[in-house]
Amino acid sequence: MRVLGRVNLIGEHIDYCDLAVLPMAIQRDLRVDFRPRGDDLVRLANTNAAHGPVEFRLSSPIEPAPQGHWSNYVRAAAEHGARELGLTAGMDAVIDGNIPEAAGLSSSSALLVGSMLALLAANSRPLGRLELALRCAQAERFVGTHSGGMDQAACLLAQEGAALRVEFAPLAARPIPLPADWRFVIADSLRVADKSGSLRESYNARRGASEQALARLLADEGRSDAAGGWRGLFARHSPEEVLRRAERVLEGELLRRARHVIRESARVESATSAMLAADAATFGALMDASQASLREDCEVSTAELDLLCGIARRHGALGARLTGAGLGGSIVALVLEARAETVLEALAENYFAERLPARELRHHLMLARPSQGAS
Ligand code: GLA
Repeated sequence: MRVLGRVNLIGEHIDYCDLAVLPMAIQRDLRVDFRPRGDDLVRLANTNAAHGPVEFRLSSPIEPAPQGHWSNYVRAAAEHGARELGLTAGMDAVIDGNIPEAAGLSSSSALLVGSMLALLAANSRPLGRLELALRCAQAERFVGTHSGGMDQAACLLAQEGAALRVEFAPLAARPIPLPADWRFVIADSLRVADKSGSLRESYNARRGASEQALARLLADEGRSDAAGGWRGLFARHSPEEVLRRAERVLEGELLRRARHVIRESARVESATSAMLAADAATFGALMDASQASLREDCEVSTAELDLLCGIARRHGALGARLTGAGLGGSIVALVLEARAETVLEALAENYFAERLPARELRHHLMLARPSQGAS
């Protein structure tokens, strides 16, 4: 099985509010080579020497390894597969890949999706991609991070040459072709963003804050039911009106988190239109506004991510922002083809030269190639 990493172009920390996002799959991949077994043993090896071999059985309760352990994403797939789908056949599998780890490019969801695909194949149980994306998102809760469904959808549903507009509840995905001269640069800040490890609590706290903010906004309308969640609010009121209400009923951290959700969601709508109209200047400005909001209201940027965005912009990027959960990980910047080399060189010289041996540069700095999801 081959599963790709993803970069989110815009729509950060709102997938768990069931609001649309715009990621795309990139050429970096994770591969699971496997052989079905006649028993229920799952035996794993990893070509990354830092990740030692692991084995567990599908039939006994599958327990998580210590927080942050690489095998937890495979265990997550196996636990869901055994409990919900009745999978019984194990596998011998080798994991190999070149998605930078804990860099905001979804290496962990790729591992879960690849493991799920391998286990399903080992058990001769085909599943449709939409159902699979939903199941993989549910399965990921095993690691203790209450993620949304963006990464799994991007891994499974992305199409070559296009970004993917992903909507939730119900899950739906629509390719938005990239204009011919748009390029997205990805630069890894080299600060680890391990969603299932050290960042788990801060990630879950942001989701919790958005839920509390929503409950207060609904209570203000006199509603005691979920009333369609954030999407229901936006169906009843304009984004400006939702923001006015938030400013009236919320304060402090909850207000900042809600303001991010409200404005980021509006930005995804404008960015989708800008991409369809090949309006790079508008798309770039929306990425910049997203970064400001992620820094000030969602509070998930870091000095390194801000620095990378600044370098990219100063050398001709039309916009730049962190991508993924933040608090480390990577940035993504929009550049027109003619400027791409200049921006890559500027990032190499001004950020990576003093932080990384030259031979490792290509692993952490790249032009994204929008690619077909899992195969
Ligand atoms: C992580 C999660 C996603 C999403 C992003 C932030 O990548 O896995 O579901 O919430 O963070 O946008």
